[in-house]
Amino acid sequence: MLRSLILAAAGSSKMERLVATAPVSRDVVARYVAGAATEDALRATRGLVDDGLKVTLDYLGEDTLTADQAEATRDEYLTLLQALNKQGLTPAAEVSIKLSALGQRFDEELSNRLAAEICDAAADAGTTVTVDMEDHTVTDITLDTVNELRRNHPGTGTVLQSYLRRTEADCKEFATSGSRVRLCKGAYSEPETVAYQRRLDVDRSYVRCIDALMRGDGYPMLATHDPRLIEIGLDRASWYDREPDSFEFQMLYGIRPEEQRRLSEAGYQVRVYVPFGDQWYGYLMRRLAEKPANLTMFLRSLAGK
Ligand code: FDA
Repeated sequence: MLRSLILAAAGSSKMERLVATAPVSRDVVARYVAGAATEDALRATRGLVDDGLKVTLDYLGEDTLTADQAEATRDEYLTLLQALNKQGLTPAAEVSIKLSALGQRFDEELSNRLAAEICDAAADAGTTVTVDMEDHTVTDITLDTVNELRRNHPGTGTVLQSYLRRTEADCKEFATSGSRVRLCKGAYSEPETVAYQRRLDVDRSYVRCIDALMRGDGYPMLATHDPRLIEIGLDRASWYDREPDSFEFQMLYGIRPEEQRRLSEAGYQVRVYVPFGDQWYGYLMRRLAEKPANLTMFLRSLAGK
């Protein structure tokens, strides 16, 4: 209930204005977001890479409304990729993109072209791109786009969400040689017709998906902070005789950083998803929805306490 309310607020421009103009919560935003500028993202990336972690960078923004905004987002990624390369941070760091930030909702051809340009630039910089997954209304067109991008850039990663009923089948389809699949639970408010509603069902689906990905020939990227699912991931990796370099764990910037380091020190690959930019509102609301206890801290900072 609370999760649905927070996710509904994530789509409200009125609420966004309130939060953005409040003496907000610098601490809350700073916990989850590396900063507003490319330099902030580079600094955070350097720190993580020096600690032996890998990184995927997300320039915040979604639901772009004009071609100019979409092209400006593309330009931010091109600048970022050049800087990552110049500073020797590739291939440890790659980028994550949202097709809605590239105009998918109003011009699919435009967003596909801009995504391809980012993939070209990533290849020039010696790294890869992963295409984030948004709500279920765009699952099919996003997977089509990933398949198209993979023709020229086979290392392009895709994201599958275990809360969707279709995802176990998608995992089986994508678990092929050369494919990189990030498996997450899913962060949007979805109807019962397409998505499991109970946490237990989402978790059970996640386990079936781990199984399909570990059994297959692709490169699984287990994106979760859930200790039980991390244990099950390690168990299935050893069951299917996977070497530590044939899969990775992924976690969000600012969430369970001690666990990120523990896994990395134990010899596993861990990639941290680092968001940056000033369009942090939607991202922040999804993080609050995942852990309503964070809401108390957030409301306190909204009240300036
Ligand atoms: P769960 O929410 O059950 O959390 C398990 C534990 O982790 C909690 O008990 C708590 O300890 C900790 N935790 C989790 N969230 C927290 C928070 N916000 N603050 C503090 N502690 C927290 N989703 C999507 O729909 N499309 C996408 O493309 C992506 N991409 C993506 C990339 C990466 C690298 C990650 C890690 C996640 C995503 N997600 C995503 C988000 C994902 O779908 C999911 O909402 C979150 O990862 C939370 O789910 P967990 O698996 O961590 O479990």
